[in-house]
Amino acid sequence: MIPVLDLKAQYQTLEADIDAAIKHVLHSTEFVLGPEVRRLEQRIAEFCECKFGVGVASGTDALRLALAAVGVGPGDQVITTPFTFIATANTISHCGATPVFVDIDPQTFNLQPEQIASAITPRTKAIVPVHLYGHPAAMDALLEIAAAHGLYVIEDCAQAIGARYHGRRVGSFGHIGCLSFYPTKNLGAYGDGGMVVTNDSALAEKVDILRRQGGKQKYHAQILGFNSRLDSLQAAILNVKLDYLEGWNEKRRTLAQQYNGLLKDVGVVTPFEAPECVHVYHQYTIRAPQRDALVAHLKKRGIGSMIYYPIPIHLQELYASLSYPEKSFPVSERASAEALSLPMYPELTASQQQEIAQSIGDFYQAR
Ligand SMILES: Cc1ncc(COP(=O)(O)O)c(C=O)c1O
Repeated sequence: MIPVLDLKAQYQTLEADIDAAIKHVLHSTEFVLGPEVRRLEQRIAEFCECKFGVGVASGTDALRLALAAVGVGPGDQVITTPFTFIATANTISHCGATPVFVDIDPQTFNLQPEQIASAITPRTKAIVPVHLYGHPAAMDALLEIAAAHGLYVIEDCAQAIGARYHGRRVGSFGHIGCLSFYPTKNLGAYGDGGMVVTNDSALAEKVDILRRQGGKQKYHAQILGFNSRLDSLQAAILNVKLDYLEGWNEKRRTLAQQYNGLLKDVGVVTPFEAPECVHVYHQYTIRAPQRDALVAHLKKRGIGSMIYYPIPIHLQELYASLSYPEKSFPVSERASAEALSLPMYPELTASQQQEIAQSIGDFYQAR
C-alpha cells in the first residue's frame, strides 16, 4: 500500500515536540489568538518576505477576509481561474461579487495573463491568481495588467507556501497573500487554520479587525466583521513544524526530480517548472492519457492517487447561473480530464516511487 498522503509518518518524527507544544498551550489556557499566534504571525510573515501576518480560521477565511478588506462587495467582478479548489470562487461569491473566469496555461495550470485583459470590465475590482499545486502564477504580466487597470491582486497561496517567483516568495507580490494550514498542506496544522500576509499595514489592520467581529476594541464594532481567529493549539503546532518547512519543500523538490526521471518515457506528461520559478510540489501532478483507467489500475495495485480537480468550477452545478457552456475554457476542461496527482510527501521513499513508476509503465505498456 502506498497512500497518496501519509500524515502519520510526519507526526511520529515530531511527536515529542508537538505534544509538548500542545501541553504548553493547555496549561497557558490562552486558546484563541494569544502569544503562540502572534509568534507564528511574525515568523510566517518573515518566511513569506512580508511585513505582516494575520492568523485566521482557514485558508477559505483568509481569502474571504482579504476580499472584504480590499472592499470587494455586491456588484463587483473578480477575475480568477476555473481550475482550482472551489473555495477560491466561493469566497468571491460570499462577498456578493461575481467570479469571472479566465482560462489557464496548459503547462503551469495557472491563469493565462494574456486572457485577463479581455475579461476586465468597469465592474472588475480584483484578480485572484492561484499558485496551483505549488507552482507560482505568472505574476509579472498579471501585476502589470492589474496596475494598468487599478485592480487589487489577492494571491491564493494555499498550495504554495515557500514557492518563489524570480527569487521572491509568493504571497509578497499582490496586495494580500492567503495561506491555508489545512492538515494536508505543505505546512499543515491538526485542524483548520489560515493566514493573510501583506506589506500594507492598513490592510493588515483591516483583516485583524474583520476577524474579531469588526471592532478594534472588544465590544466596540466599527465594521461588519466575522469570527475567524486562529487558535493557539494550531499555532503552537505550526510553530514546531515551521522549522522544518524549508527542508520538507526541498525534499518534495528532490522527489519530483526523481519522479521526472522515472516517468520520462512511460507516456505521461510530467510537471513543468518555469525557469523563473521554484515549485514546492504541494502536488506532483501529471497529465495522463486514459486517466480514469490508470487510477483504477493503480488502485488495484494498492497505490493511491487523486484528481485535482475533476470538474472545473465554471461547470459546477453551483455556478450554472453564470451560464458558461462547455468548451468555454478548453485548457481547464482538458486539465480536468487528464490531471492526476501521485503520492507526494516528504517521507515518500525512492523505492515507493519506483513501484509507482513501474505500475504506471505497466499500464501503458499493456495498451
Ligand atoms: C487553492 C486553494 N484555495 C483555497 C483553499 C482553502 O483552504 P482551507 O481548506 O484552509 O479553507 C485550498 C485548500 O483547501 C486550496 O487548495
